[in-house]
Amino acid sequence: MKIRIKPFLGGLTTLFVPSVADAMRCRNYPQVDAAYYYSVWMSHVCIANYFKSWDSPESVLEIGPGKSLGVGIAALLSGVQKYVAFDANPVLPPGTESHLVAELASYFQRKAPFVVSDPNFPTKAFPAELFAAERMSYFLSPEWLERIRFALREQNDLLSYLNDATTLEANSVDYLLSHSVLEHVDDLREMYALMWKCLRPGGYMTHSIDFSSHGTSSEWNGHWSVPDWMWRLMKGKRMYFINRAPLSTHQALLAESGFELKGMYTIKGKSGLTRDELNARFQHLSESDLTTASAFLIARKPLL
Ligand SMILES: C[S@@+](CC[C@H](N)C(=O)[O-])C[C@H]1O[C@@H](n2cnc3c(N)ncnc32)[C@H](O)[C@@H]1O
Repeated sequence: MKIRIKPFLGGLTTLFVPSVADAMRCRNYPQVDAAYYYSVWMSHVCIANYFKSWDSPESVLEIGPGKSLGVGIAALLSGVQKYVAFDANPVLPPGTESHLVAELASYFQRKAPFVVSDPNFPTKAFPAELFAAERMSYFLSPEWLERIRFALREQNDLLSYLNDATTLEANSVDYLLSHSVLEHVDDLREMYALMWKCLRPGGYMTHSIDFSSHGTSSEWNGHWSVPDWMWRLMKGKRMYFINRAPLSTHQALLAESGFELKGMYTIKGKSGLTRDELNARFQHLSESDLTTASAFLIARKPLL
């Protein structure tokens, strides 16, 4: 077992001092800027396009936007006409983000390349073929930017931020994405059912999932060695933690829910564990699971 002591003590403290969980929640949402949201949105657009799964959606649902609706603003500047954000934890008043509208627009105006840390990512160039000049002149016009700012303040058909899953409508969006979220969801089967419900038949979705230990262990995959009792203490009363589900769990849930897997882009890591160090519950992990540090999954809900 290879845990790091600080996160363990942190989780333990939340069991006795609940206000610490709140402080941790804020720390889990670092201040990020327009460049981050531009690169998140563009990496999803480009990876979907790379796997021939981008069809210029008009409506988008983002699961787990966290601290900001920056991805949604980038989507609305790209030609999306309805953006819905759903986060289980109500963490933001969207009205305070109007500065991001002009900042993000300037990236599109400049057709800026986007930054991703992975040197092998299939493309970092601005995908000009997806953003026709005529279309962009409308979605970068001062009037459209003002409509986005208004929607951030008032929330309307253009943009909404929801915290109650039951308010999400069936078959209501063309495209669905999540970034660094599915590794935190406690009930993944329920989440896949929700995504199936919301996506229209024929719609695509992309998910970026980080399978690493998120600093809980000295090894990037050391979380798969921690016994369940100790993991429960480490989690404590944190609002969300990591679920330790490996890649194969997502592949199985996609298939079980009825989604077609259209593509997968993985980043591999050398396992820092020997098999006899694994928690008994993770002994079955394949070599592929044990060495997959992160993945983009691209899937489609088939036409019924
Ligand atoms: C690490 S943050 C990622 C935020 C953002 N996507 C980003 O890239 O910065 C994970 C987010 O997932 C949300 N989350 C966790 N479980 C969830 C669930 N079951 N349903 C919806 N959102 C969830 C959390 O509230 C949090 O805002």
